[in-house]
Amino acid sequence: MRIVDNDRLNITVFPGVYPPSEDTYLLLDALDIRQDEAFLEVGCGAGIITLIAAKKTRNIVSLDSSFEAVRNTLENLKRNNLQNYCHIIESDLLGALSSSIKFSLIVFNPPYLPKNGEYTDLDHALVGGQTGVELTQRFVRQAADHLLKGGRIFVVVSNHANVESIRKTMIECGFVVDTVSEESLFFEKIQVLRGII
Ligand SMILES: C[S@@+](CC[C@H](N)C(=O)[O-])C[C@H]1O[C@@H](n2cnc3c(N)ncnc32)[C@H](O)[C@@H]1O
Repeated sequence: MRIVDNDRLNITVFPGVYPPSEDTYLLLDALDIRQDEAFLEVGCGAGIITLIAAKKTRNIVSLDSSFEAVRNTLENLKRNNLQNYCHIIESDLLGALSSSIKFSLIVFNPPYLPKNGEYTDLDHALVGGQTGVELTQRFVRQAADHLLKGGRIFVVVSNHANVESIRKTMIECGFVVDTVSEESLFFEKIQVLRGII
């Protein structure tokens, strides 16, 4: 069941920013955002996940390496009068955060496709490295250092990349890993992995 009622959110998507899609909604449906959660979204895009989180907790940081995505999330927060609850930062993964900043929940719907030689203006939102897993693995290692004890990560993976290698990286970082939801689209199968540390 979709927890997003788009009619109740006033959302715009800027040119060159990833529009909310099946993977966005799969991740949203899998999330259990608690009240007073210390919440981090990596790769916020147009910001829909951040907006939904801001309706549940007031302790939010959202990051994206794309300046347009940062601007887009800020605009959507303002349109829905939620801007006071979030810090939005341009950052390569969690690089802009001081090591002392910890969260109880970190989520990422990452670029997860392998590089195929063709280029589109959405590659920054779609391509996760040569084999598709590199960015997600880097994310997992960084997220592990920014979690409170008992904290969780939720990350989207696709069968176009090597899901087992991502699972292995999570286990190496100390996570207990579960698949909490999955969906078969006509061209791929996507899953949401949850790691608890
Ligand atoms: C698939 S989109 C997801 C957008 C949004 N969270 C959603 O679910 O609709 C991936 C997002 O990750 C961002 N991104 C890509 N590489 C990144 C990096 N190294 N650090 C932070 N964000 C990154 C992209 O700019 C894009 O906004």
